[in-house]
Amino acid sequence: MIRILFIGDIVGQLGRKTVANVLPTLKEERAIDFVIANGENATHGRGLNKRHYEQLIEFGIDVITLGNHYDDQEEIRLFIEDANEIIRPYNLVEHYPGEGSKIFKTKDGTKLRVSNVLTQAFMKDRIISPYAAINEIIEKSEPMIHIVDLHGEATSEKQAIGWLFAGKVSAVIGTHTHVQTNDARILENHTGFMCDVGMCGDNEGIIGVEKESVINKMWFDPKTYYEYRKNGPAIFNGVILEIDKKTFATTRIETISINLDVNE
Ligand SMILES: [Fe+2]
Ligand SMILES: [Fe+2]
Repeated sequence: MIRILFIGDIVGQLGRKTVANVLPTLKEERAIDFVIANGENATHGRGLNKRHYEQLIEFGIDVITLGNHYDDQEEIRLFIEDANEIIRPYNLVEHYPGEGSKIFKTKDGTKLRVSNVLTQAFMKDRIISPYAAINEIIEKSEPMIHIVDLHGEATSEKQAIGWLFAGKVSAVIGTHTHVQTNDARILENHTGFMCDVGMCGDNEGIIGVEKESVINKMWFDPKTYYEYRKNGPAIFNGVILEIDKKTFATTRIETISINLDVNE
């Protein structure tokens, strides 16, 4: 059995500090073998620059997945090819450097595949259908543990993908909404599933953004810039998957939600 921790969208500096505060202890206490985290909002809430990529890896994350904000920090185009621990969305229509599905190894040599796939409903990116994309990945891959970060807005579409690939991948874990859903379960005795794993960052904001700035932009002044708090009440959201090394099935899924107060 291997134990994988999957961490929800890390939002801004407070999100990064939250991970730095929680991750080392959680990894040790729960004997985590491998850590996947969504980093699409890690740099000032939008995208991921090189400095923050390196910082997140130093904190103890093994793979960083992305989402619709994959190219918001333009420098990522220049370093993603050499950044072995980043996966960008697989199903982009336009060519983009980097890869959307890669094989990794845990410390004991267990191979696992991690894929990052965007959904369609209420999303703006030009993409190949997530169904076709995941099928294509499975067809070209030898059987192994396979974790899909399914990045999208609609819970219905995420459930449809979960059921479509139940028994075919080890887990389908949703990201993007930044709100953790209370539906972690194992589909067809094989596939760990959750509509959305949640986020890491400001626990008194609006999906990780400072709340006054969001309210102002939403209703009073569209020119308002989003702001991000650096300290204060924070939340760490994730999920722990226990996966059988022989059958590649998830045997246990546990939602993680930790509240903490972050100060410099
Ligand atoms: Fe996000
Ligand atoms: Fe997103």
